[in-house]
Amino acid sequence: MRILIVGSGAREHAIARSFAAEGAGHELIVAPGTAGIAEFARLEPVAANDPAAVAELAVRLGAELVVVGPEAPLVAGVADAVRERGIPVFGPGREAAALEGSKAFAKRIMAAAGVPTGRAVDVRTAGALDAALDSTGSPYVVKADGLAAGKGVLVTGDRDAARAHALQWLEEGPVLVEEFLGGREVSLFFISDGGVVLPLSPAQDFKRLRDGDAGPNTGGMGAYSPLPWLAASFGSEDAFVEQVRETVAAPVIAQLAAEGTPFVGLLYCGLVVDGSGITVIEFNARFGDPETQVVLPRLTSPLSVLLQAAAIGALAGVPAPAFSAGAAVGVVLASAGYPGDPVLGASISGLDEVDALPSVHVDHAATTLDGGTFVASGGRVLTVVGLGADVEAARDAAYQGVDLIRFPGAQHRTDIAAGIR
Ligand code: AMP
Ligand code: GLY
Repeated sequence: MRILIVGSGAREHAIARSFAAEGAGHELIVAPGTAGIAEFARLEPVAANDPAAVAELAVRLGAELVVVGPEAPLVAGVADAVRERGIPVFGPGREAAALEGSKAFAKRIMAAAGVPTGRAVDVRTAGALDAALDSTGSPYVVKADGLAAGKGVLVTGDRDAARAHALQWLEEGPVLVEEFLGGREVSLFFISDGGVVLPLSPAQDFKRLRDGDAGPNTGGMGAYSPLPWLAASFGSEDAFVEQVRETVAAPVIAQLAAEGTPFVGLLYCGLVVDGSGITVIEFNARFGDPETQVVLPRLTSPLSVLLQAAAIGALAGVPAPAFSAGAAVGVVLASAGYPGDPVLGASISGLDEVDALPSVHVDHAATTLDGGTFVASGGRVLTVVGLGADVEAARDAAYQGVDLIRFPGAQHRTDIAAGIR
């Protein structure tokens, strides 16, 4: 199949890697991509957030399937534009992507579908802010309503900081003040064709910049899959996944279909698990990054079959995705200064040595090639992925890879998936 992947991160590298691993001879094009992805795919320049430009490219290439990686193109209507040209596309249209594009919209859908989530107050003016903060109390959770590239959420016990964050984001649009939810976070992905939902295997993301969950929130500094500890509360991973499917994913997909905005694509359920209770923290309308880099290497079913069936409304005939019993751990290497103003241009070496390791590979998020050398061109730059029989073995493999990479000024966490049982 000729497949066009829209986006440029380590997630898109992982998606291309999975398609290539099928050994089915797919022709892969990533637009705009990043240098490292050329290992599996041809790169094409495109303005990824421009619906007409992406649709034009898909037509020109004769793409048989388009997979949209990031949220911004989805919220901009890229999937709608491609679908209008008669090309199967994995990714929701603009209206359904509002599940990620507007936190207030997501709350409304959850309320209508009876899905458990934190109580939230929709704040539209500075005058309404104090009453909202009083109603939830400390710790305060303040969220920008719209897309904010991981910078819109502040969780703090400091009321002045909560107020300042809310006032800053009120200049852009509404703000949500939400009840604090304690517990462990789980990311669980569902593939949907608008009606049927099929689960992938759960992962956990490490959102804070520094070890011990210190420092600012980021797009994600590492992840692992599966989550062996789910069995203690839910009996098994399967029982957990089924509970999320039944109480969260299926009702939300049904609600969107009933409103005439069917969700075709990847429903990312960001959950908090407390004992045997499950609460939704957020939805995303696309594969998570870096979770995808640890979930897809464990997928043993062909990814293209799943995504194409979703795109054409034929998931009912597809077996549930299967996963290896082994584990994957991903460690993100980011440029100095990330998540604020990253310092670009560091030369990266040692990647050939990592390639020689049997259980490690590297997904590129932001690299360019200068001569034969990779150069960092963004905030998050690489995800080093280790595979193993269990989380500990996978973690050892990942850090063995990290240790071989020379990347001046790079930041990474040393405690990704540490002590997980
Ligand atoms: P979000 O962009 O909604 O995923 O929020 C980013 C991160 O902020 C989440 O992964 C959580 O770690 C944290 N967070 C968001 N909402 C809450 C909440 N209601 N209670 C506690 N932590 C939260
Ligand atoms: N890892 C969090 C996200 O993809 O939004």
